[in-house]
Amino acid sequence: MELRVSGGARGLKGTIRVPGDKSITHRALLFGAMADGTTRLSGPMRAGVIEAMENCLGALGVEIERAQANELLVHGIRWQTPDRSLDCRNSAATMRLLMGALAGSGVRATLTGSGRLSARPMARVADPLRRMGAQISGPNGHDRPPLSIVGSRLHGIEYRMPVHSAQVKTAILAAGLQAEGRTLIHEPVPTRDHSERLLRELGVSLTSANGTLSMEPLSSLLPPFELAIPGDFSAAAFPLAAAVLTPGSELTIQGVGINPTRTALLEVLREMGARIEVAGLASAEVELSGDLTARYSDLQGITIQGGRVVSMIDEFPILAVIATQAHGETRVLEAGELRLKESDRLSSMTIELRKMGARIEQYAGGATIEGPTRLTGARVDSHGDHRVGLALAVAGGLASGETILSGAEVIRESFPEFAATLRSLGGQLE
Ligand code: S3P
Repeated sequence: MELRVSGGARGLKGTIRVPGDKSITHRALLFGAMADGTTRLSGPMRAGVIEAMENCLGALGVEIERAQANELLVHGIRWQTPDRSLDCRNSAATMRLLMGALAGSGVRATLTGSGRLSARPMARVADPLRRMGAQISGPNGHDRPPLSIVGSRLHGIEYRMPVHSAQVKTAILAAGLQAEGRTLIHEPVPTRDHSERLLRELGVSLTSANGTLSMEPLSSLLPPFELAIPGDFSAAAFPLAAAVLTPGSELTIQGVGINPTRTALLEVLREMGARIEVAGLASAEVELSGDLTARYSDLQGITIQGGRVVSMIDEFPILAVIATQAHGETRVLEAGELRLKESDRLSSMTIELRKMGARIEQYAGGATIEGPTRLTGARVDSHGDHRVGLALAVAGGLASGETILSGAEVIRESFPEFAATLRSLGGQLE
């Protein structure tokens, strides 16, 4: 599918909402499925990556019901051995979180996925789980899908995270809930903490101090719960950036999750000179949310490295577009993880933005972008990566002439309403 974006939009004006948070929806579905009874989720993301998790849980015997338009009921139950393999499609979060939860369950299951998912690193999850006693095997001894997991008795471990990954951390926690003894995780750089917040809310004994998490296992199933899921900051980043970069814009995005482990892009944009305000702060017990208002702004380049990279790991594609419009150099360092996402994002963004005239150089662990550049419309490709596709659609709106994005169907993975949302603000996409 192609998306045609006309450049030169006049200001983007209005008030919108974005899909529910992807990471929180994944966790809420998983922990709801592991609970003893019915969990009610309001505002979950409804998109491809979430359907992957829903279908897998369905195969394990968990019924998931659409209640009202924006609500899901998850009927948690002891999982049953599925009669088919669990297709995680293109969702690494689905595969990694399920690996942890299945490792200590009483069932046997095989996890499969798309070609790209099969190329993504799973040993980072399988290694710590094996240390806990998990039985996981892939074809020819590789930790690649199809991965067979035989649920076993696990024991808690002390583990120092070699990669900064919240998915790995969550997989270990999901396994640790069902293990014997305490699980300790040392996390030198903090990653998103949605799992910890939700598990604590559910009464799990889980403490965190000086970069170390300590969790006691459960003696029974998790309790069912009710959770209001805020808007996805990583989805909001696309219209937010479009507003900051389009003269005459004033855009408010309501009810966006602003968990500080996710929002480094806000700090970065403000340091670059963006006029963004956060109002209407609401602190649900579990997650903080607020309304973001962004206005067109003149930006300066910046250098991003260290912990900030982790807290905006999903925002690099849109940051690359933002940087093409900022004065001077923007440098992203220590960001080699970007090569291991839905596509190699350093490479995808370099190739595609260059077609639009951007000055961007990539290197092993990062990229340098020189701005400002008047982008020109071009034929570009999503590389099968939702965030690359969304970022290029924003770039198309800033360019002169028309941009044709191929592989645009991938946008449905996390933001199916994107084109309609931007059109409602004055953008021209079809
Ligand atoms: C996620 C963590 C990040 C992120 C992904 C969602 C999560 O991945 O890129 O989109 O829900 O925990 P890693 O944990 O692999 O860094």
